[in-house]
Amino acid sequence: MTHITTDRLIMGAMRLGSWGANFTTLQYGEFIEECLRLGIHRWDHADIYGDYSTEEAFGKIFEASPELRDKISIITKCGIRRVCDARPDHKLKSYDSSADHIRISVENSLRAFRTDHIDTLLLHRPDHLMEPAEIGECIADLQAAGKVITFGVSNFTTSQIELLSQYAPVQVHQLEVSLTNLGAIAHGDVDYAMRHEIEVQSWSPLSGGELFSKDRSDRARRIYQAACDLQERYDAEADQIILAWVLRHPAQISTILGTTKIERVRSAIKALGIYLSREDWYGLWQASTGKRLA
Ligand SMILES: NC(=O)c1ccc[n+]([C@@H]2O[C@H](COP(=O)([O-])OP(=O)(O)OC[C@H]3O[C@@H](n4cnc5c(N)ncnc54)[C@H](OP(=O)(O)O)[C@@H]3O)[C@@H](O)[C@H]2O)c1
Repeated sequence: MTHITTDRLIMGAMRLGSWGANFTTLQYGEFIEECLRLGIHRWDHADIYGDYSTEEAFGKIFEASPELRDKISIITKCGIRRVCDARPDHKLKSYDSSADHIRISVENSLRAFRTDHIDTLLLHRPDHLMEPAEIGECIADLQAAGKVITFGVSNFTTSQIELLSQYAPVQVHQLEVSLTNLGAIAHGDVDYAMRHEIEVQSWSPLSGGELFSKDRSDRARRIYQAACDLQERYDAEADQIILAWVLRHPAQISTILGTTKIERVRSAIKALGIYLSREDWYGLWQASTGKRLA
């Protein structure tokens, strides 16, 4: 296999709002349009991004260009109660998957995005106090009302997904999968998703930029060097090889790009055409663990 569809690339909005580049509506518009030209139409959000401001800032583009809404698929998350000025009633960071919290969060997101539906709603973190039957009923109501199309989770354990799946159709699991976080592959999250046909979406596939920073850890340095060593063989840049490492897994993992630069999105497209050999894939794994395979 040498070609992978652009559906496997998702654009992340976490760093585009006030937590990062602080895009204007015009900048969002240009970025969205260029992503569409590149074949990227899925956008990952969370209610908390930008301290509850990024969905709203992004949604302004649909006032200016309503035709864009049908061309884009919106993923957003709820379930974290973040302490910030926008939520003065949150006194301590906590998780909340109660039906009331989910419903209110969905209504807030719909209003912020100026839309009548969320394409994919995820529970952002596992709530240890979750009541699976209550969540199931709430998601069924939201889906019946057409307000949520697809449902999923993020950062859950497999046993939490198994429990919740008895009551709600979990179709997506968004979790950290990268060369600095091998756990999801090594410890069963990814193969559980494969077995149950759950889409895996990897957040921070480039380790949040750590691999490229000057004061990176020894582990990050080893990974970066191992990727650089493969540049010539694949006629690719180190970041493309690192993304290709995630994409190479048979679970058909989707990657969420966190860059704020459109040229890096363009560059990521090339990763879709790189098919790492087994030895090269394991060579990168070994660079991460610092140990030879058993
Ligand atoms: N579900 C969850 O719990 C969760 C958690 C975290 C994130 N997410 C989602 O995942 C998305 C991606 O996460 P992420 O932003 O951490 O992804 P990432 O792609 O691993 O990291 C993006 C960061 O790496 C930098 N970078 C990328 N390529 C680079 C290069 N070649 N050289 C130097 N720096 C480079 C970017 O800087 P530039 O902007 O300068 O390119 C940016 O600061 C987020 O936007 C969010 O939607 C979800």
